[in-house]
Order: sequence, then C-alpha cells, then structure tokens
Amino acid sequence: MSHYYSEEPNVPLKMKTIEFCIRGYCFKFITASGVFSFGKLDRGTELLIESMVLDDSWRVLDLGCGYGAIGIVASRFVNYVVMTDVNRRAVKIARKNLKINGVRNAEVRWGSLYGPVRGEKFDT
Ligand SMILES: C[S@@+](CC[C@H](N)C(=O)[O-])C[C@H]1O[C@@H](n2cnc3c(N)ncnc32)[C@H](O)[C@@H]1O
Repeated sequence: MSHYYSEEPNVPLKMKTIEFCIRGYCFKFITASGVFSFGKLDRGTELLIESMVLDDSWRVLDLGCGYGAIGIVASRFVNYVVMTDVNRRAVKIARKNLKINGVRNAEVRWGSLYGPVRGEKFDT
C-alpha cells in the first residue's frame, strides 16, 4: 500500500504547479502525486507557516518537509534550513522547489526522523 509517507510511493507520478503568496513573499511549488497535499497548500501547513516564530540568525530543521512549503518559506526569514523527508519522491520535488524559488540557504536530505541530521543542532 502506498502512502504519502512511503519511502517509494507506487502511484503513477503526476505533477501540478501551484503558486501562493504568504508572509510577504510569493512562491511557486511543484506538487506531486504520492507526496502530501498534491495540488494545494494544506490548510494546516498554511496556519503553521503563518504562525511560525523565526529569527534571522537561526538554523531551522523542517523534518517531514513534503514538497517543501514550510522550509522554503522559512528560508526567507532565517540563516539556514535543513529539510528532510523519508519519501524519496518528496525529496526530489522539494529539491526542485528550492531551485524554482531561488533558495540558496537550504538543502534537502533523505532519511527517517533524526537520521539525516545526526549530531547537528537546530534552533527550531
Ligand atoms: C503531513 S505531511 C507534511 C508535509 C509538509 N511538512 C507540509 O506541511 O506540506 C508529513 C511528512 O512527513 C514525512 N514523514 C513521515 N514519517 C517520516 C519519518 N519517519 N521521517 C521523515 N519524514 C517522515 C512524510 O513523508 C510527509 O512528507
């Protein structure tokens, strides 16, 4: 059975690009079938983005980044963001979204829970 949290989603790949403006910036995101919230910005994600507390000196961890909405918006307000996901398709799409949005102070790593950031420290 394939879920959005499967390592290798086995649903056929479809992609849809969405655009939205939030916290004073506009973004374009590729979303994909088999990755959380295909074709839209999830309402819970939106609320989290609107309310997250960030500081321009901070290193931020976005664990379970999906297509990358939270980490990519956060990257506009902080020093550096590490985004991770266990879903390989999410990791690929989030990397594309870094490029599309011209983000240079973030990276996406594949892996489960804290595996990809072992020994590293984050501010939030
Ligand atoms: C509810 S989705 C949220 C995605 C994204 N943060 C957003 O708001 O659009 C949860 C994400 O966590 C990922 N995930 C689930 N279990 C994980 C684990 N053990 N390690 C890393 N990522 C995981 C899923 O693949 C999925 O992309």
